Amino acid sequence: MRVDPAVSLRGDLAVPGDKSISHRAVLLASLAEEESELTGFGRSEDTLATLAAVRALGADVDVDRDVVGVRGVGLHGLRPPSEPIDCGNAGTLIRLLPGILAGQEGRFELVGDESLSRRPLERIASPLREMGAHVETTEGHAPLAVEGGMLEPIRYELPVPSAQVKSCVLFAGLYADGGPTVVLERFPSRDHTERMLEGAGARVRRKPGEAAVWRAERLRPLELSIPGDFSSAAPFLVAATLLSGSELRLHGVGLNPTRTGLLTVLERMGARVSVFNRRSAGGEPLGDLEVAPAELVGTEVRPEEVPGLVDELPLFALVAGMARGESVVRGAEELRVKESDRIESVKNALRPLGIRIETRQDGFRVRGVPSRPKGGGVVEAAGDHRIAMLGAVAGLLSREGVHLEGAETAAVSFPDFFSILDSLAVR
Ligand code: S3P
Repeated sequence: MRVDPAVSLRGDLAVPGDKSISHRAVLLASLAEEESELTGFGRSEDTLATLAAVRALGADVDVDRDVVGVRGVGLHGLRPPSEPIDCGNAGTLIRLLPGILAGQEGRFELVGDESLSRRPLERIASPLREMGAHVETTEGHAPLAVEGGMLEPIRYELPVPSAQVKSCVLFAGLYADGGPTVVLERFPSRDHTERMLEGAGARVRRKPGEAAVWRAERLRPLELSIPGDFSSAAPFLVAATLLSGSELRLHGVGLNPTRTGLLTVLERMGARVSVFNRRSAGGEPLGDLEVAPAELVGTEVRPEEVPGLVDELPLFALVAGMARGESVVRGAEELRVKESDRIESVKNALRPLGIRIETRQDGFRVRGVPSRPKGGGVVEAAGDHRIAMLGAVAGLLSREGVHLEGAETAAVSFPDFFSILDSLAVR
C-alpha cells in the first residue's frame, strides 16, 4: 500500500471499542448465567477469535454490528470443543482464557497463528500450575493444553510487568477455594479485569500494587458500553500533533489512567491535547479529545511508565524522531516478545525515513530532528498490526510518502484504520 504525505489531519472521529475490554467482557459474559449485552464492541480479527472461542466452548453469541449479546453457561459450564480453540493472533485470548479453563472440567487445547506460536506462555502456565491446574505448553509456547479442577489460591508476584498474566491469575482465582488469590505488581498495568470483576459482582480487593479476588459462586451478566480504544486513537493523536494545520477531535475515547501513558508523555514533550466531556461507562472513564499541532522536545520514558504506554511505544519512537533533542526508553524488554520484536521492527520500519534508532535489550534511544523525515522507501509491517499503523503515520508525516508492506495486518485490531485515516488526511 502506498501512503502519501499529508499536510494535516482534520475532522472528527470515533475509534472502535477497546480491544482489551472487549476480550475480557466476552470471556466474563460467557461465565454469567444470563444474557450480557456489550455495546461498542471493538470488532477486529483478535476479538472475533474470542467470540468464536466462547461459542465453541458452549456460550450463545449474537452479533449485530457493534452490539454483542452473550448468553453465558455459568462459572463451571464451559465444555471442551471437538477441535482445538484457535486463538489466531490474539495474545490476550491465549493468555486469559486458560485462567478460566483451569476451573472447568475436561481437557482444553489452544492453538494460534505463527506469530502467536512464538510468544511466551510459561508466564501463565507457571502460576496456573502453582494453583493446581495441569498445563502443558509446547516448549513454552502454543499449542497449549489445560486440564482444570480444584484450584488453590496463591499470592503471586508478577515476574514480568503484564496485565495479561495478572488477569489470567485473577480469573483462575474465581475458582480457588480457601482465601483470596492475590497478584502483586511493581508497576501498575491496565486494570480492566479488576474493574470488570467488580462489575460482575465478584469479591475484589484493590490496593496500590496489589489486586485480590475470592472464589465466586456466580457472576452477574454485564451491561457494558465499551469506550473507544485509546491504543487505536493513538496513531491519530500522534499524526495530528506532528502535522501543522491539524484540527482533530476524537470522541468517546477510553481514558483509564493505566492506558493513557502516551498522553502524559506527549504533554511532557509539549503536545496540545485537550480533554473535555469526561464521563464514565461500564466502570471505565472516557472523554473526548481535541488535538492541535505542536513542536515537541525529547524526553525519557522510565521503566515504571512503560506498562501505561506499552502498545504505544512504537509510535513514541516516531514522535521522538521528530522532536528536538534526545529521547530514551528504558525498562521495555517486553517489547521483544510482542506480535513482533517491536524494538527491532520499529528500528527497521523507521530506517527508510532516515530516523535512526539505537537499540538496547530493554529499549531504545533516538536523536530527533524536528522536520519532516524523508520517506520514499519501503516500510515493513513485520506481521504486526501496531507496526502497520506506525508505518501509515510515518508515511503521512514524510516528505515523499512510503510504500507499506503488510498493511492488511492492521485489521488484527482496527479493520477500518486506513479508510478513516484517509478520510481525515488533507493532502
Ligand atoms: C493487554 C496487555 C498488554 C498489551 C496487549 C493487551 C491486555 O500485554 O501489550 O496488547 O489486554 O491485557 P502484556 O500484558 O503482555 O504486557
